[in-house]
Amino acid sequence: MCKFCWILSTLLLMAIGTMAYLFVVKGSVAASDDGRTAVILSAGERDLVLTEMRGFLESVQAITMGVVNKDMKGIYENAHKVGMVNAGDVPASLMGKLPLEFKKLGMATHKAFDELALEAQDIGDPQIVLSKLGKLMNNCTTCHAAYKLDTERTKER
Ligand code: HEC
Repeated sequence: MCKFCWILSTLLLMAIGTMAYLFVVKGSVAASDDGRTAVILSAGERDLVLTEMRGFLESVQAITMGVVNKDMKGIYENAHKVGMVNAGDVPASLMGKLPLEFKKLGMATHKAFDELALEAQDIGDPQIVLSKLGKLMNNCTTCHAAYKLDTERTKER
């Protein structure tokens, strides 16, 4: 193969590699005053993430009451709706702005809710449900300790 072709393909591969790194691994991030990593999103994207978060909290509340009332059906429904079925609505443009670690923690949380739903559906031991809930909430606290959301500055003024 000609030397020029080699150089060209190497440059192309490097460009693709850089794009993949920025899009898949790094995301759109900045340092912030409180030491957490700020994920920079548009106002609409931030609303979408925060809406999903409030859904998480509502399910945690409902599952806790489900354990108290031994209501396995209620636990199943509330865990299932924030499981993987709920993870597919994220647009690719938003995915590209989330750092890899953020995406992993988010996916792990949806999956953990699915496992909790399965437990409620199968044996349905309230103590196991509670233990699974406590463990999966480590994802909530780990992610909250590491990341915050910020909105893109518009070029007004
Ligand atoms: C992958 C990261 C991640 C995971 C996992 C995660 N969160 Fe969040 N959550 C965030 C970020 C980032 C914010 C915005 C925090 C900020 O800007 O200070 C947030 C905000 C919230 C808010 C505030 C919503 C609002 O309207 O302001 C709630 C409530 C919340 N999360 C609940 C939860 C619960 C409950 C869980 C676990 C079941 C959870 N989150 C898991 C990243 C995560």
